[in-house]
Amino acid sequence: MILVVNFGGQYAHLITRRIRDIGVYAEIIPYTEISPSTIEEKKPKALILSGGPSSVYEPSAPKIGSWILEMDIPVLGICYGFQLIAHMMGGEVRRSKGEYGPTKVKVLEREGLFAGWGEEELVWMSHSDHIARVPEGFVVTALSENGYVAAFRHEEKPIYGVQFHPEVKHTPKGKLLLENFAAMSRAEKNWSPERMVQLIDEYLRRELADCKSILSAVSGGVDSTVATVLVSRIAGDRLTSIFVNHGLLRKDEEKEVLNLLRGLGINPIYVNASEEFLFALKGVEDCETKRKIIGEKFVEVFSRALEGRRFDCLVQGTLYPDVIESGGEVGADRIKSHHNVAALPEWLEAKVVEPLRYLYKDEVRSLARHLGLPDWVAERHPFPGPGLGVRIIGEVTEDKLRIVREASAIVEGVLRERGLYSKAWQAFAVVGDDRWVGVKGDARVEGYIVTVRIVESEDAMTADWLKLPPDVLNEIARRITSEIPEVTMVTYSITTKPPSTIEPC
Ligand code: XMP
Repeated sequence: MILVVNFGGQYAHLITRRIRDIGVYAEIIPYTEISPSTIEEKKPKALILSGGPSSVYEPSAPKIGSWILEMDIPVLGICYGFQLIAHMMGGEVRRSKGEYGPTKVKVLEREGLFAGWGEEELVWMSHSDHIARVPEGFVVTALSENGYVAAFRHEEKPIYGVQFHPEVKHTPKGKLLLENFAAMSRAEKNWSPERMVQLIDEYLRRELADCKSILSAVSGGVDSTVATVLVSRIAGDRLTSIFVNHGLLRKDEEKEVLNLLRGLGINPIYVNASEEFLFALKGVEDCETKRKIIGEKFVEVFSRALEGRRFDCLVQGTLYPDVIESGGEVGADRIKSHHNVAALPEWLEAKVVEPLRYLYKDEVRSLARHLGLPDWVAERHPFPGPGLGVRIIGEVTEDKLRIVREASAIVEGVLRERGLYSKAWQAFAVVGDDRWVGVKGDARVEGYIVTVRIVESEDAMTADWLKLPPDVLNEIARRITSEIPEVTMVTYSITTKPPSTIEPC
C-alpha cells in the first residue's frame, strides 16, 4: 500500500482516491500518527506527504521526524508536503505572492515522475509560500510561469516534491504523475472489488466473533444495503435487520426496497410508521425542528419495533471519510443536524461494526455491482435520513408531500431515460409555500413553485449544478406542470455549494 500522510490539506482524501483509482491500495493517516511503529505495522511501499494550510516556518506548523526521509522507500511531497521536505533538508521556504488556480509549468526533466509530460503543461496551484532555496542534493525538475520552483527530486534518493496538486482534475496530467510515482514504489496493483471483499470479510470475522445478536437498520440506500449484505454473508441468522417507513420516502420506494431486500435473502422487520411521523410533523414549519422530531420519532418507533430486545452489535454503513474525520471537526459550525442510524436508542449499548469503513462512495458502488445488486441500487443517489421532510420548505402537508414526491419521480425518471442519472450526485424537487399565478385550461390557478436541484459532486462537500441540455430541462418542467395540476412554475437551482447547501434545509 501507499500511505498518505495528512497535514490538513483540503485535497488529502483525493490523493488517496486517485491512488486507489490507479489500482494501488492507499490509506490516509494524520501526520500526528506517523511513527516507526505505524510504518512497521502498515509496511507502506511509498509515502505521500499531503498539502495543508500551514506555513512550514511557523513554530506551530505540523512537522514529522526527518527519519521519514531516510527510509528506502519513495516519498512524494505535495504542496505543503513539498515545502516540508525542503525545510527538513535544509532549504528555505518563504512567503511569495501566491499562485492560485490553473498555472503553466515548464518541465525541465521529462522522465521519472514527469514521464509522458510535455515541455509545458497546465497544473493546479494553491499556495502562498514558495521554495526560495532548494536544499543541497536536490535538482529542480519544473518551474512555474512565475519563476517559482514547481518540482524537485533528490539526486540519489527516491525523494520527490511538487508544488502543484496532481490529485485534482484541473491538473490534466496529474493522474499520470501519480501513476509514475506508484510505478516507482512497486506497490502491487491489486485494489479491486475482490480485494475489498477480502479485506471486509477479515474485518467482519474479527469484529463479529463475539456478537451474539446483530442489528442492521437498512434504508435501501447503497451504503446500508451493501453493509447489510456483507454482514449477512458472515453473520447468518445472528443478523436482524429493520426498515422503517417514515412516510417521507420517494415514490414507490417502500415496495422497491422491500422487494430488493427480500430478493437478497434479507427479510427485514418492516415498520410502516407513516401516519405517526406525519402526525408528529403537523403544524411544524421550522426545518431544524422537523429534523429533531423525525430523529426522535425514529428512535421511538425503533424501540417499540424491537421491543427492548438486546443487540450486542450494530451495523452502520459509515464510509472512510467519516471514519477519518470523526472528531476532527472541533469547533466547526453545525450547518444541519443530520439524522441517521446514529440516533438509535441508548439502551442498545451495542458495539458498532462498520464494514465500509475503508471505502469511498464510488468504491461502495462498484462493490454493490460486484455483489450482484441491481444497477438502480449501485447507482442510487444519496437520500437524507429525514427524507422528503427536508425537501419541503415549511410545514409538511399532504399536498406538498404529494407534489414533491411526484416531481422528484419525474426528475429522476427523465434523467434515467436520458442516461444522465449517474452523471448527477443528486437530483430532486423541492416545494415550499410560495405561489405563482398560472393559467391552465383558460382558468387562473394560483399554483405551487417547484424548484429542481440537480448537482454534480465528488463528496457532497462542494457541489456544482449540472449543466443539462435545455431540452432535458424543458422536458422536466413540462412534465411537472402537466402531470401535477397544482404546479404552475418550475425553476432550476443554479447556486453552487458553497454558498448554498445541497438540500434546501
Ligand atoms: P447539504 O444539504 O448539507 O448535504 O449540502 C450534504 C449531503 O448530505 C446529505 N444530507 C443528509 N444525509 N441525513 C443524511 O443521512 C441528513 O439529515 C442529511 N441532510 C443532508 C445530502 O443529501 C447531501 O448528499
